Amino acid sequence: MTTLYSPLTTGALALPNRFVMAPMSRNRATAEGLATGLMAEYYAQRASAGLIISEGIQPCITGQGFQHSPGLHNQQQADSWRPVTAAVHQQGGRIVAQLMHAGRIGHPSLYASAHQSLAPSAIAASGFAYTADGPKPYPVPRAMTGADIRQCIDDFVSAARFAIEAGFDGVEIHAGNGFLLHQFMADNCNLRTDHYGGTVENRLRLTLEVTAAVADAIGAHRTGIRLSPQNPYNDIHESDALDLYPTLCRLLPANLAYLHLMEASNRDMTLLLRQLWPGCLIVNPHQSSESGPVTPQIASDILQQDVADAVAFGVLFLANPDLVARSRRGGPYNQADASTFYGGGAAGYTDYPTLSTQPQTQAELSG
Ligand SMILES: Cc1cc2nc3c(=O)[nH]c(=O)nc-3n(C[C@H](O)[C@H](O)[C@H](O)COP(=O)(O)O)c2cc1C
Repeated sequence: MTTLYSPLTTGALALPNRFVMAPMSRNRATAEGLATGLMAEYYAQRASAGLIISEGIQPCITGQGFQHSPGLHNQQQADSWRPVTAAVHQQGGRIVAQLMHAGRIGHPSLYASAHQSLAPSAIAASGFAYTADGPKPYPVPRAMTGADIRQCIDDFVSAARFAIEAGFDGVEIHAGNGFLLHQFMADNCNLRTDHYGGTVENRLRLTLEVTAAVADAIGAHRTGIRLSPQNPYNDIHESDALDLYPTLCRLLPANLAYLHLMEASNRDMTLLLRQLWPGCLIVNPHQSSESGPVTPQIASDILQQDVADAVAFGVLFLANPDLVARSRRGGPYNQADASTFYGGGAAGYTDYPTLSTQPQTQAELSG
């Protein structure tokens, strides 16, 4: 029987268990997008995960969506990640880099040099970018030219190469959550009339080209992809998701290391894609804000029902560096402090206690 503690080998990744740490932006990189010693400590603390997926990392200047998010678009940034990957490996873990281009979910004031935000079409997202001067409405982006698109593919490839050079075990291409690749796929924000817009195949083209180019550069066995079908986050509306995502699953290279789904409240979509996708499937199960984060019990049920091969945990891993050991003991689990999710220092980042450092509760002592 497959459990959360069963090993899983997929592509170049040999996971000793099926707990995957979901990608989480924590906005603690330097202003230059460099990874820090504190980030190395944070990831190393969570190295007992079967696989760590890093926070979103911008592959180019205009890919940045948030203050103090890290980059992988120059040598200095690549070098800054080396101690992070080394610290995770030293603790026996594995870590892939999530490559995330924010597209229209950005703001010129976030960029290291003067640029406009780029997107498939010149349509601003509703909502606000969090800048050094406070929240600012998302600007109207510039519709990408053919040259911009070719540059974007090159940027993903170059970031993937930097990731491998920096010691990552692979990369995850972020094609969900309303960021650039998702913007190309969604018919509410891609109104292009060239061969990157219009039909489902055309809207999928950039995601497929980026994936093929990255897989070609670093190996499909080290390349994964994240999707968030029907998730409206970041002003996405998909009128034809039931056509789009099955088509994408058929067209993606079948030998990718994995497909990672962040579920919206649509288990049927997950089950459909599970049938269509021949490779390893990681699912980050949908939880309503009232029901709290994904728990090992929820994850266990998902594996038992063969909905996925591995389960991604976000907030629970954030607050419980020793999540695997805690789960083996049946808890208890630390509660996450949402006020320290984004930005700041060690508080709410590297100071969540492990079971070995945490005083036992009265119930545990008596039980
Ligand atoms: C603080 C925080 C930052 C996040 N940043 C990212 C990110 O950089 N990339 C991404 O794909 N998802 C990101 N997410 C979404 C998580 O990967 C995950 O899908 C979400 O937290 C739901 O899973 P959970 O219920 O286990 O927390 C973030 C979530 C949180 C809480």
